[in-house]
Order: sequence, then structure tokens, then C-alpha cells
Amino acid sequence: MRILYRSDAPRAAAWARYFAEHAPDIDFRVWPDAGKLDEIEYLIAWQAPRELLAAMPRVKVLFSSGAGIDHVDFSAVPAHIPIVRMVEPGIINGMVEYVSLAVLALHRDFFDYVAAKAARTWNALEVPPASARTIGVMGMGVLGRAVLERLATYGFRLRGWNRSLRHMKGVESFAGAEQLQPFLEGCDVLICLLPLTPATKGILNRELFAALPSGAALINVGRGPHLVDTDLIDALDSGRLSRAILDVTDPEPLAPEHPFWTHPRVFLTPHVASMTQPETAAPILLENLRRHQRGEQLLGVVDRSRGY
Ligand code: GLV
Repeated sequence: MRILYRSDAPRAAAWARYFAEHAPDIDFRVWPDAGKLDEIEYLIAWQAPRELLAAMPRVKVLFSSGAGIDHVDFSAVPAHIPIVRMVEPGIINGMVEYVSLAVLALHRDFFDYVAAKAARTWNALEVPPASARTIGVMGMGVLGRAVLERLATYGFRLRGWNRSLRHMKGVESFAGAEQLQPFLEGCDVLICLLPLTPATKGILNRELFAALPSGAALINVGRGPHLVDTDLIDALDSGRLSRAILDVTDPEPLAPEHPFWTHPRVFLTPHVASMTQPETAAPILLENLRRHQRGEQLLGVVDRSRGY
């Protein structure tokens, strides 16, 4: 069996090591040392350009090296090739850590204290109990549910919004466009963990911000294009929103003149919330490959009509 890894170069060696050790029967190749492209049967990639796939007529499965697959041009991937998302504990843990940190930093006023320290101000702010704050998660997929489970341990009130209704213990669930407004009305902190599709592009906009309680905060760990940047700036400047924590922007990297860099109420990280970890991802991908070899159903196959 021949696999080509064409993704994140710094992590390639760890992937290759895992396969050499645990699956010596597999010919695991790392881009650009791909050998003959027409021999490749499985492709692990962040992006799969049309010309590349055309040069690899034997490819049976495309494994996305990341959780999101919005960067994959479905039309370039022949219909008989399933596209598989990366769902692995390393990505999940990373996201849970990042979002917990962001929510707790907001809850415990850390950003206010950064400013207070710069001004040499000793001023203790009142801390409401976690149970007095409602955190809402948009997107109740694997990542959204893991985040909600962890946030529950701190005692926050929790809400989730999803395309179709998903029940979760201890979480007030909302679904679909008609329940978006009632969902938003209660969220003191809103977390975007949606997949990027034509239906969710620009969903974090003026209208949505207007439905949140005044002074709510936004955490975007989905994709940059979920957010309408100018609407966020307006909402922050008018006080409608208190803060935004953004791990994703459009484009990435953010242009040097973009107002997010200097806005005092925007906290920015360079798309680091969560990353595929070869140590935990490689065993899962190998098991999925073995399933495919045995003729079993692959796990994590993308529904092309839904877009994720
Ligand atoms: C990162 O954003 C990913 O999709 O894995």
C-alpha cells in the first residue's frame, strides 16, 4: 500500500516514524519525495490541487490533515474518492484547552488586569460565580461537544446551537435558523466552532451581534470568513460587544494594516488553537486505513452535499 503525506512539513517526520514503526508493510512517502505519483493509493493532505489528483489516478481516499475541510475544493476530487476529516484526540484536546483558557480569561477579567497593570492600577473587579454566566457554543460537532463538556466542569450555564438539534446533558440546545435568535439572547460569551460552508460564511455579523446581550464577548475558533470584520469593529466600538478573542482571520496571516492588530478589545492568536498531533493522529489514521483495506466503512467521511 502506498501513501503520500503532503502537509505540514515540520510534522512529516513524526508521521513517517510512526508508520515505519507500526506499519512497515506500508510504503509511506513524504512530499516532495513522492516517487511515481501514479502509484499513490492514499493521500494525506491539507489541500489537494486538481493537477495533483489528476496525476494520481489510483488514489482511493483523501485524508484531510486537519479538522476543517473548507480548504478542499470538492469539485477537484473525483466523486469516487471519499474525503475523510481529521478527528483525533490531539485536535480535540487543543481546542478544549484554548477555549477553556479564553472563557476563563474573560470570566476572570484577565484582559482588564493586563490594562490595569500597564496603568499601575490596583483595582479588584467583582467576580460573579460561573453559574451566573451563560456560554453559548455554535456548532455541536465533536469539537463543540468536547468544549461544552469541559466548560460544564467550571459550572457555567451552557447553550449549544447546531444545524440540526443535538441533545446534551446540562446544555440547553437550539437548532436551525429559527432558533438562532433565542439562542443568542442568553449568551454572555459566544464561541464559534462551526464548519465553514456557504450557509455559515459571514454568520458572525451585525445582526447576530445585535441579538446578543449587551456587553457579550466573542471567541472565534472556527474560520476567519465566519466573521464580518467591520461589523465586529463597530460592535466593539459601540460597546455592544465587550471583547473578541480571534484565533482565525481572513486572510491568514492578517494584513499588517488591519485594525484588529491595534484594537484594544481584540485579542489575536495566529491560528494555533488546535493542531493535528502526529502522535495521536497517526494511529487513528492507520486504523481507518486498515478498516478501508478490510472493506469496512471509513470513519469521518465528509458529506459533500452538506459541505463538512
Ligand atoms: C485547523 O484549523 C484544522 O482544521 O485542523
